[in-house]
Amino acid sequence: MLSFVLRDLHHGFIMTKWGWILWMFLFMLSGSLSLVTVYQPPVIAAARGVDVIMLCELRLSQNEIMSNSPVLYWLFLEEANTEKSRLWHPSDAYKERVNLLDNGQNSLNKSILLKNVQWADSGKYVCKLSITIKNNGSFRKSGNQTTLKVYDPIVFALSAHNDSLLRCEVNATRGAGFALCVTHEGRTLQTDSAESAVEAQPYVTLSESVSARKGGKYECRLQLMEDLIAKSIFYVNQYLQLM
Ligand SMILES: *[C@@H]1O[C@H](CO)[C@@H](O)[C@H](O)[C@H]1NC(C)=O
Ligand SMILES: *[C@@H]1O[C@H](CO)[C@@H](O)[C@H](O)[C@H]1NC(C)=O
Ligand SMILES: *[C@@H]1O[C@H](CO)[C@@H](O)[C@H](O)[C@H]1NC(C)=O
Repeated sequence: MLSFVLRDLHHGFIMTKWGWILWMFLFMLSGSLSLVTVYQPPVIAAARGVDVIMLCELRLSQNEIMSNSPVLYWLFLEEANTEKSRLWHPSDAYKERVNLLDNGQNSLNKSILLKNVQWADSGKYVCKLSITIKNNGSFRKSGNQTTLKVYDPIVFALSAHNDSLLRCEVNATRGAGFALCVTHEGRTLQTDSAESAVEAQPYVTLSESVSARKGGKYECRLQLMEDLIAKSIFYVNQYLQLM
């Protein structure tokens, strides 16, 4: 009976009133029936051209025993969410680009390596596992999706047209929430922000310009929400500035 109820739950069927009451009862008895989760981080930022680890971990409570090796699916959800490309096992488009990092048949770590990240890889990914649990049947469980966001190296230099203007620039996935911030000797500066995009390109160019009249250390940071993703440093020589 327990396995019947649990199976229904995992398949997302609407349970009968009695099934629900029974489930609540069992839940109170055991204290923890939501035992199988697939963890994947909500966001991963990767520099274009690098190999990125797409984390996915199957988490079981102590009393769950797998009776088969879990079957792994990693999918890229295309823009419209209608088309799905398969990263694992790799479909033709991903052959040579994806490795499973832990090949152990019964490993709970289903992280994959996606090689040579490109703009077109920006988007949402889901890790899905087909699992068979002893006394609990087979079911599929998905993670909460990972959004991959891509960026290029930061370019931080004096403007070609004005050598007292310091300009920081980066290309990053469009609409991904990246932001630039420039500091001088640790203090955040008021900057002149700009964002430009070329139609049909999946990235935008973010830029910040600041006056570089004061000598010292300038730092440009690429941030995503509160996280520092990358930074670049530029020193302005005080002596030269005075000349
Ligand atoms: C998935 O998202 C839901 C709703 O935000 C959350 O309650 C749950 O803990 C998440 N699961 C995992 C495994 O991160
Ligand atoms: C899973 O594998 C990835 C890649 O090797 C690693 O970074 C991560 O720490 C592993 N997770 C656990 C829980 O061991
Ligand atoms: C060069 O940049 C500085 C600092 O922003 C500005 O005050 C100045 O007017 C600019 N000069 C020219 C020629 O645009």
